[in-house]
Amino acid sequence: MEFVKLNNGIAMPILGYGVFQITPGESEHCVRDAITAGYRLIDTAQAYRNEGGVGAAVKGSGLPRDAFFITTNVWNSNAGYERAKVSIDESLRKLQTCYIDLLLIHQPVGDYLGTYQAMEEYYRAGKLRAIGVSNFKPGIFCKFAEQVDIKPMVNQVETHVFWQQRELRGVMAQYGTKLMAWAPLAEGRNYYFTNRTLASIGKRYEKTAAQVALRFLIQNGIIVIPKTVRRERMEENINVFDFHLTDEEMQAISALDRNETLFYWI
Ligand SMILES: NC(=O)c1ccc[n+]([C@@H]2O[C@H](COP(=O)([O-])OP(=O)(O)OC[C@H]3O[C@@H](n4cnc5c(N)ncnc54)[C@H](OP(=O)(O)O)[C@@H]3O)[C@@H](O)[C@H]2O)c1
Repeated sequence: MEFVKLNNGIAMPILGYGVFQITPGESEHCVRDAITAGYRLIDTAQAYRNEGGVGAAVKGSGLPRDAFFITTNVWNSNAGYERAKVSIDESLRKLQTCYIDLLLIHQPVGDYLGTYQAMEEYYRAGKLRAIGVSNFKPGIFCKFAEQVDIKPMVNQVETHVFWQQRELRGVMAQYGTKLMAWAPLAEGRNYYFTNRTLASIGKRYEKTAAQVALRFLIQNGIIVIPKTVRRERMEENINVFDFHLTDEEMQAISALDRNETLFYWI
């Protein structure tokens, strides 16, 4: 596993396992399978209703808590200083842990400055090792980062080969904020898994289009959290550290950028 260093000095795995759209009932065994496949970074959210399954799988793994890097997100209905605090306590309880490695504001909705104030307080108290945001576009991110005391360590946004977030990356670099890609495989949209550029580069290394796409993001220093419920795909998606894309291959994949969302609801 490779790691990135966040702007407060802590190390975060560059690849993890996302659990969006995994039901509460399925989540414990999926996360257990992911841990067996080697994943240590797990990304959940209050809104996914599966923090309990994540907590149970981590606890049941027999590995020490500090072997893991757990990320969760404060949902919109918990925005505001007081509500956010109650919700963080609830997340800690469901995750069966006394600290969360990275807590994000899920979306810039409601009193998110109040939410962040609560997060800064929990961060200073040692209950959060890192804090940040999600779905903050360049303008709102910049305004937010100027207003807060503790600069966000991460911004998690839609990022894949068809939307490479160049403008946002430029803005975030000023604050040392790392980009974490949600939907790094674009949930398979736009014929992702049969894309000719990705597939032909993959042939050279005996890798799939998915592996080439994840490798491209990792070589750009972007944290990725692909989701799958299938064990063989968990293994496929983590098996991206034994090859290296050349500058020419990186450029060919850079050229796939359409600079727009594939998820029109955001
Ligand atoms: N902060 C936010 O607003 C936000 C929004 C969306 C997502 N996220 C986070 O980002 C994570 C990843 O995003 P995502 O789940 O939306 O999409 P994704 O990881 O880009 O794609 C997941 C989809 O691709 C399939 N898949 C996975 N690996 C594959 C492979 N190697 N070959 C073929 N198909 C494969 C999965 O199907 P199977 O499961 O059937 O294998 C699933 O349908 C989420 O789980 C969540 O943690 C955050």
